[in-house]
Amino acid sequence: MCGIVGAIAQRPVAAILLEGLRRLEYRGYDSAGIAVLNPDGQLNRARTLGKVARLAEAVAAQPLPGLLGIAHTRWATHGEPATHNAHPHICRDRCAVVHNGIIENHELLRAEQRAAGHRFTSETDTEVIVHALYDALAAGLSLIDAVRQTTAQLQGAYALGVLDRHDPEHLVAARQGSPLVIGIGFGEHFIASDVFALLPVTNRFIFLEEGDLAELTRETVRIWNAAGELVERPLKTSQVTAEAAERGSYRHFMLKEIFEQPQALAATLEGRLLADRVLPESFGSQAAALFSQIQAVTIVACGTSFHAALVARHWLEAIAGLPCQVEVASEYRYRAHVVPAQALFVTISQSGETADTLAALRLAQASGYAATLAICNVPESSLVRESDLVLLTRAGPEIGVASTKAFTTQLTALLLLTIALGRLHRLDATEEARLVTLLRSVPKQLEAVLALDAQIAALAEQFVDKQHTLFLGRGTQYPIALEGALKLKEISYIHAEAYPAGELKHGPLALIDEEMPVVVVAPNNALLEKLKSNLEEVRARGGQLFVFADSQVALTATAGVTVIRLPETDDLLAPLIFTVPLQLLAYHVAVLKGTDVDQPRNLAKSVTVE
Ligand code: F6R
Repeated sequence: MCGIVGAIAQRPVAAILLEGLRRLEYRGYDSAGIAVLNPDGQLNRARTLGKVARLAEAVAAQPLPGLLGIAHTRWATHGEPATHNAHPHICRDRCAVVHNGIIENHELLRAEQRAAGHRFTSETDTEVIVHALYDALAAGLSLIDAVRQTTAQLQGAYALGVLDRHDPEHLVAARQGSPLVIGIGFGEHFIASDVFALLPVTNRFIFLEEGDLAELTRETVRIWNAAGELVERPLKTSQVTAEAAERGSYRHFMLKEIFEQPQALAATLEGRLLADRVLPESFGSQAAALFSQIQAVTIVACGTSFHAALVARHWLEAIAGLPCQVEVASEYRYRAHVVPAQALFVTISQSGETADTLAALRLAQASGYAATLAICNVPESSLVRESDLVLLTRAGPEIGVASTKAFTTQLTALLLLTIALGRLHRLDATEEARLVTLLRSVPKQLEAVLALDAQIAALAEQFVDKQHTLFLGRGTQYPIALEGALKLKEISYIHAEAYPAGELKHGPLALIDEEMPVVVVAPNNALLEKLKSNLEEVRARGGQLFVFADSQVALTATAGVTVIRLPETDDLLAPLIFTVPLQLLAYHVAVLKGTDVDQPRNLAKSVTVE
């Protein structure tokens, strides 16, 4: 998604803005731009298609001196990826705007502005903002009042950074539906889409809330809330270090993040387990009281986080004995529902800013759920701020677009939830103690499975020239098959689908031939014999099987059947353990294909628009 950086300082800002954009690259984008007010009061701009490095080259060739500026990475929604659509947008050399979000009434505003004599130079929805702003400034309003008047005309979602050539002392920002933080320096202030962009210049942040409008000078920050009242927002010190968001010696962020999983899971468990039980306080101080009322669970999420929810449904029903519904947020938010009595509404999100998940949460809050719980990786995110209860996943910054450690830490958090709710229903103390012991063993088990990296890298060669791949699993492994297929398709661009293995003969069997590798997740559990019959169905039709099986599974490699052995694990932990080789497989196939592993085409890390 689009990324915003802005700075008002006593030193040149171009390098700070470019470094900020580089740090926002992980969000996904197709073009980038920067505008700086130079010492002579001229507004200078550079925009390029493609990577931030190209923009940096353009700025090196034609420097942008100045102490006030805004910059942007654009992920196209309205108008193709092209230089003329890249931000900042400027009106009549006077004011410049960067925008993240979607302006829903842009067509109407465009028609009115065109009729009033404005000339449009892009196909973006954003350009209407800068023309409205110009009109307000030309009518004599101060920058802050001009932004106030402009945003009052906008419907939709926006985070904005705005500057006016005639006002070198102010940078203005606004937030409605898309995240924005203010970075606090000494004699300098910044804005950005997230904290990562600003870590080289500050670790002190103010997180804007919905409807906030902020006016920054070098010395001051003033914020007005949606009701127009001047407000104080808390100043927070980020614990994230600049290095945590660096790739280190790894070839890609994705590989680094796959290998960080043992520590990330250990961090997610830390302080949340006693010797034999889960601490309900881990979910917030009111959790114990709220959990005791819960009789059902609804979980809503998107993408990989949705797959975590699908696994959790098995756990919550089987272990906690609670009915559990799971749905993708983009569907949930647009249908009428029956809210179960005394139900907990759970959202799962790495970023905590996914527009559909946030909208689903807001809908649930108005629908009579007993409480809302966010399982999220970003402490300062909107989802966390707006939920009654929170369980942070503590995966650390996830920069690769393809979610890896966020997923396994979500599963860990969902196991904590299952156990915490289960003890209030049908989980007895002995079983709780057994599950807690198992949970503690996960980081070590993950280390063992990561040792398969070289073997999986070799296996990847057999997938490189394929067009399609099928993933099969049963029970809790079906969502893991879905996740494996999602990883492969998003970073290697090989079409991959996942099926519950029992569904094979109801259609997908027709696809099987020698050109279709079939990846199977086969832990040693009650469904194994059934799964083996499904594998026979594939073999009988010439399909190539790649079976990830734990060491106890009696399966032999034969012609057309490759078996990859995983360390033996308990069925409860199998979804966590079996995810890792599928992540590695997708990673190595993508590397062999030479795709952009960390920033796959067309995708964004934080999907802040609908
Ligand atoms: C896939 C992936 C996406 C996200 C989805 C939800 O690898 O990363 O499918 O899982 O966009 O994002 P969050 O979890 O931030 O709400």
